[in-house]
Amino acid sequence: MNIVVIGAGGDVGRSVADELARNGKHEVIRVGRTRGDHLVDITSDDSVSALFDQLGSVDAIVVAAGNVILAPVEKMTPADFLRGLQDKLLSQVRVALIGQHYLSDGGSITLTSGIAVDDPIAQGSHAAASNAGIEGFVQAPCVRIVEILPFQGFQLTQGAGYLSCRVFPRLVKMPF
Ligand SMILES: NC(=O)c1ccc[n+]([C@@H]2O[C@H](COP(=O)([O-])OP(=O)(O)OC[C@H]3O[C@@H](n4cnc5c(N)ncnc54)[C@H](OP(=O)(O)O)[C@@H]3O)[C@@H](O)[C@H]2O)c1
Repeated sequence: MNIVVIGAGGDVGRSVADELARNGKHEVIRVGRTRGDHLVDITSDDSVSALFDQLGSVDAIVVAAGNVILAPVEKMTPADFLRGLQDKLLSQVRVALIGQHYLSDGGSITLTSGIAVDDPIAQGSHAAASNAGIEGFVQAPCVRIVEILPFQGFQLTQGAGYLSCRVFPRLVKMPF
């Protein structure tokens, strides 16, 4: 399968890409904002469309990009919150909405949520909201097929800047 991993230079994306590419299992196309086989800015419709126009048909898309805002709500403004939603929730949804038209039959799209949605962390209000949004987006059209991918390689015991050693990303798969 040819699989696009967006965010492949990051902590999560690199683990995902390496796992998928292990022993030549899949052809992995590594994509990032500043480094990778291709570049994209997932906050932009035009940039995401341009990426898939370049790539053509793909068998699977993984998004391991999109930042949350970790800050106390007392100090957060509506503009901060909106910026965070644009960065994580809407960017991942954007890739799914645009990327679905480039998927081969039986292809899948995998988005990255995070356990802050139901396992609260300090200053994690925005993270919880973004992650809940991603999981809600996936569940509505395809309840049956939501799953958490069980790759051991994704378990990060020391996510940069995160407060809990139990934090690891939760990935939601959405085949179309
Ligand atoms: N790390 C954890 O413990 C953890 C826990 C829960 C959830 N998550 C979620 O997992 C996802 C990845 O987290 P991470 O820790 O791996 O992040 P990271 O190490 O900071 O890596 C982020 C990756 O995404 C790319 N990226 C960032 N903004 C982008 C944009 N606008 N367009 C295209 N690519 C962009 C970066 O590319 P460049 O390097 O080229 O800028 C980089 O490859 C995030 O959604 C995060 O919320 C992570």
